[in-house]
Order: sequence, then C-alpha cells, then structure tokens
Amino acid sequence: MVEKFPKEFLWGGAIAANQVEGAWNVGGKGLSVADMASYKSNLSVSDYAGHNKVTLESIEKASFDNSDDIYPKRRGIDFYHHYQEDIALFAELGFKTLRLSIAWTRLFPTGEELEPNQAGLDFYTKVFEELKKYEIEPIVTLSHYEMPLHLSLKYDGWYGREVVTHFVRFSEACFTHFGSYVKYWLTFNEIDSITRHPFTTAGIIPERFADDKLEEAIYQALHHQFVASALATKSCHAIIPNSQVGCMITKLTTYPHTCNPSDVEKALYQNLNFNFYSDVQVFGEYPVMIEKLFERKGIMIKMEEQDREILKESPVDFISFSYYMTLTESTDPTLERVAANTAMGVRNPHLSETEWGWQIDPKGLKISLMELYDRYKKPLFIVENGMGARDTVEEDGSIQDPYRIAYFREHFKAMAEAIEMGVDLIGFTSWAPIDLVSASTSQMSKRYGFIYVDQDDDGNGTLERKKKASFDWYQNVIKTNGNEL
Ligand code: BG6
Repeated sequence: MVEKFPKEFLWGGAIAANQVEGAWNVGGKGLSVADMASYKSNLSVSDYAGHNKVTLESIEKASFDNSDDIYPKRRGIDFYHHYQEDIALFAELGFKTLRLSIAWTRLFPTGEELEPNQAGLDFYTKVFEELKKYEIEPIVTLSHYEMPLHLSLKYDGWYGREVVTHFVRFSEACFTHFGSYVKYWLTFNEIDSITRHPFTTAGIIPERFADDKLEEAIYQALHHQFVASALATKSCHAIIPNSQVGCMITKLTTYPHTCNPSDVEKALYQNLNFNFYSDVQVFGEYPVMIEKLFERKGIMIKMEEQDREILKESPVDFISFSYYMTLTESTDPTLERVAANTAMGVRNPHLSETEWGWQIDPKGLKISLMELYDRYKKPLFIVENGMGARDTVEEDGSIQDPYRIAYFREHFKAMAEAIEMGVDLIGFTSWAPIDLVSASTSQMSKRYGFIYVDQDDDGNGTLERKKKASFDWYQNVIKTNGNEL
C-alpha cells in the first residue's frame, strides 16, 4: 500500500493558554489583553471588528472587575487544574504532538519583571513533564493573543520599541527553562491579524491614535514583532540545539470572483498582502511591492540601523499556518459579503458553510499548501484547522458529530493530495481537540473539540470531559497514519 502521509507525520491538536487555562488570577499571573475580552452574546458574525472593539472605557471597566462572569477567557476550561486529565485524553487519541501556548503573564505578570515568576515556571514544567510521559512532542507558541495588559497601557503595546526587549527576555526564559522539553517553537500566532484586531494581537488601543495615524502605528508595531521574532529565533537556535522555529500566519488564500482581469488583480493584491507576513519571516526582508505600497500611503516605518540585518540573519525554519477557509474577492461592490475568520469576503457560491458562516473549502487547503511550498520551499505545518459547531448531548449521553468527521476527512484528503504533489507537510494539529472558549466571540457554544466540555456560555456546568463520536474516528486516523479516513 502507498502511504498517504510521511512515517513521522506529527498528528495532534492545538490549544492556546488564554482559551483553555482559566486560573486568570492564580499563581501570581498578571492581567493579559485576553482577560479584557467580554462575552459577545447573540453573535453577529458579520461584524468581527465590532466584536473585538476595545475602548479605554471597556478596559478600565474590565480591569476593576474581579469576576469572570462576563469574561469567559478568564475561566477557559480550567485546563490549569485539568491538564493531567486532558493530556491523558490526548494520549488516548494517539497524539504525536500538542500545540499549546505559554501565557506571557504567568511568567512575567507585567512583562517588565527581570526574572520569571516561579509559580508560572512550575506550572508549565508540570505540563511538559506530563506530555513527556506520553511521548507527546510539544509545539509552543510564544505569543497567542495574550500579551501583558501593562505593556499595552504603558507602551501602546507593540507600537513601543521597548516591548521587543521585554518579549525577547520572556522568550529566552522559555528557551532556557523549557528547552529540554520543547524543540518546536512558533513566535507570533497569526501575526498578520494585527491589522484586523490590533488590541488582541499587539495591545494597540485604537482610540489612542489619530484616525489617520492608526494604520502607520499598526505597521510600526508589526515591524517590532518581526524584529522580535527574528531575535527570538536567533536566541532559540543558540540556546536549544536542533530547535526549529516557525512563523505562523492565517492562510486566507483569495480567489477572484470572476475571470474579469480586475477581479483577478484584486485577488492578487490581497494575496500579495497576506504573503507579506511570511515573506518577511522567511526571506528576511520586506517585499518591494509592500515598501512601495507604504510609500504611496505615506506610511513611514521607523527602523533602527541594524533591523534589516536582524531580519536577514534569522529567518524561520518552517512555515506554520491556520486554515479555516478561502476568501473570494470582486470589484463589484454590490455582491453579498460573508464572514470569515476575522475577515470578510464575497460569498463563494460553490462552497457550503458552518453555522457561523465560515465557508468550507478543503480543496482550498490543497491549493494553499501547494502555493506556500512553491513560494517558500520550506517545511509546512498546519497548526490550526477545524470546525466550530453547536454539539448536542443525546439522552444516552453520546455526542454525535458526523459534520466534524466529514469536515476533517475532506481536509485530510486534500493534505494527502498535496503531499502526493511533493509538498513537504510535516504535521497537522486540529483546532481544537477539546472544546474551549472562542477567540472571536468568547463563546463556549462554538465547539471545536473531539472532547466535549460540560460548560455553557455563562460558565455553568461541571467541566466534565466527554468523548464525542469524532474522538474514535480521529484516533483511528492517527493509528493508521491517515490511511483510513
Ligand atoms: C484562530 C485563532 O484564528 O482561529 C484561534 O488562532 C481561534 O485562537 C481560531 O480560536 C478559531 O476562531 P474562533 O473565533 O472560532 O475561536
């Protein structure tokens, strides 16, 4: 039989600290930007920007509120106290890898401390020990929408150059303390999302900038993240032998709505713009067409003398990305636009969609893999892909989720086809193996897991973990290395 996936393929799942850990004020943890996110009742998926709106007033209100009532990310699914049980379930699924993030504020509560907080180090050491017990390879994101609130308020988040130093110190503490457990690292989750939700991604509070200066501030903050990512990559290689560092982007391949050259051109612009983020981290330089674009827009990025050299010196080793959908673009302003993951696009009539309006496109994954590999010629890692859905617990206690199985089956077929075409795909981590709090809406009811968590949007529930029907299915996929889908 011809194997569909490489022998060492890293099958697993992905989670993020701010969406699972809870224990937001335990063990000396400081406030993070995620702790400011309130539950968005009755979701209007068409308004992502509205969902993620933060104001100084909302932040002030949240900072003085000591409860987790309307701040679901503060409670997560209490992974902080359930990590052993959860990792045992991941091991039962046969995970080769678990992608998780380290909450910066557990190690450096304000971001400015010079030494890491011992309780934070102890927690992650226990988590990594547990993973080691089951031979699950961790892949760690250093920054997944959870930077210290203090840095946001004091320096305007990543707009302030000072944050580079604080992030590098945090990263180096992670490499030094966890380097014996962790070989794979990602610097910034979906670094491109800074333009779509600058507070969550970079601690930027829009109202602190004049309207005509906000875009420039965002790109300045992004530049600081690029520099920080390269410096962290350099330190990681120096501190941990054989370590591998990846960038992480939201892959939103954009199709032209028609073959009208204007539509094709519009889609091309959008794709060039999306590729910009990985281009810098892979090639170590700003793409010419982006620099020209900045020039035309009057955007001036302040760079220190050595910045270009820093970027050039430490490119990433591999490219990781999330994939939920493709987008479609058109020059026709009258066409209906639909919600995507923190973005909007024209409705693609050839695709079905989830209850949250996210269009489902497995072939788009194959296309994205081929395009990325052709462009970068470096190993690829899908570190997020999955389907948010409302699951129902049946009277007999079972949870039947054939839609989730169908979703993954088609995406896995697309991956196998891309591998057959010659793409070097090294792993896949589902988003998310266990139900968790949604990044965009803070809902629990938008469920992604193979494992159900008994908790509703208001935080009611026993937190009991239950296997869904998809649990057995994914377990068999891993067992057969993707040969039985
Ligand atoms: C990705 C994020 O964009 O999408 C995750 O990295 C997030 O943190 C995932 O959870 C799904 O989005 P949502 O809004 O459905 O949780």
